[in-house]
Amino acid sequence: MPSKVSCLYLLTVVCWASALWYLSGSRPSTAYVGQMSFSVRKPLPRLTKNDSFSNIRTHSLNPHNFNFLINEPQKCESTTPFLVLLISTNHKEFDARQAIRETWGDENTFGDIHILTLFLLGFSPEPVLNRMVEQESQIFHDILVEDFVDSYHNLTLKTLMGMRWVSLFCPHAQYVMKTDSDIFVNMDNLVFNLLRPNSKPRRRFFTGHVIHGGPIRDVHSKWFMPRDKYPDTRYPPFCSGTGYVFSGDMAELLFKTSQHTRLLHLEDVYVGLCLRKLGIHPAQNNGFNHWKISYSLCRYRKLLTVHQISPEEILKIWTDMSSKKHLKC
Ligand SMILES: *[C@@H]1O[C@H](CO)[C@@H](O)[C@H](O)[C@H]1NC(C)=O
Ligand SMILES: *[C@@H]1O[C@H](CO)[C@@H](O)[C@H](O)[C@H]1NC(C)=O
Repeated sequence: MPSKVSCLYLLTVVCWASALWYLSGSRPSTAYVGQMSFSVRKPLPRLTKNDSFSNIRTHSLNPHNFNFLINEPQKCESTTPFLVLLISTNHKEFDARQAIRETWGDENTFGDIHILTLFLLGFSPEPVLNRMVEQESQIFHDILVEDFVDSYHNLTLKTLMGMRWVSLFCPHAQYVMKTDSDIFVNMDNLVFNLLRPNSKPRRRFFTGHVIHGGPIRDVHSKWFMPRDKYPDTRYPPFCSGTGYVFSGDMAELLFKTSQHTRLLHLEDVYVGLCLRKLGIHPAQNNGFNHWKISYSLCRYRKLLTVHQISPEEILKIWTDMSSKKHLKC
């Protein structure tokens, strides 16, 4: 096995070479490159198991008719993970992915408590970005890509891709967390205090920072919701998309429910709608913070997630917390 460092070095060189090649103009037309960037490589990994959803797909409000461009269908075959981390990310966030791989997303942190880390992406209109992600995936094998356009308005599709993947390729995972790439996750607290590997696995369990709110009608807001897409004045309770955790059985329940639920671009609201249809109430947990909290060891030990954390901060905080495990607060 080549070391991570030389892999990274190689990746950087290859990425720069392809970027230069792309920018230098010695390339076929963009349309051609766009069409070919995925089809010239080795045959795409197809779904290897029967897609039990295919019969629903033809007649549904939200068929999610997408295919995996990059898949890791064998990730769960040898061991059943205790926790699958699904991290929503985009093509340019290589630094964040790398910081997460080396810190809270490191699959080897807990020895025989098996953690599985996967980054979720759509398809970029920029061929160079797709190629970079493809190369990154060949090194780390922790990336999933479906063929929808990667954009803020398609975040719900990313989450559904993650749920679909768990239902198809890892249906016995005990727990799943969906989070973002600018989040710090206190894994010790999450694994040992919230999920507890030695206790009976929960079913139909969903938790996070529960929001009771309604649609924002201000067109300038990041969370703008047009009246014709959602006429009600209230949303069902939903967990902030910055980080929520659920039992493995929920992945299939949510994915199947989503096929009969008209798509909304606000991913967390949409999951809340599916939960309401399923009659499942998300459980509030104050450890999930969807805002920034300045770092102190004792403060961070008590929480589960913190939002708006840069890759540099993730590395610093993780190093500090790991080196002070023996200290009492
Ligand atoms: C897929 O499903 C079909 C029909 O349900 C069945 O005939 C076929 O054997 C299945 N294939 C695999 C690989 O399980
Ligand atoms: C979302 O993805 C679909 C499928 O690729 C695409 O047609 C659509 O334009 C995307 N939406 C946005 C807002 O990017």
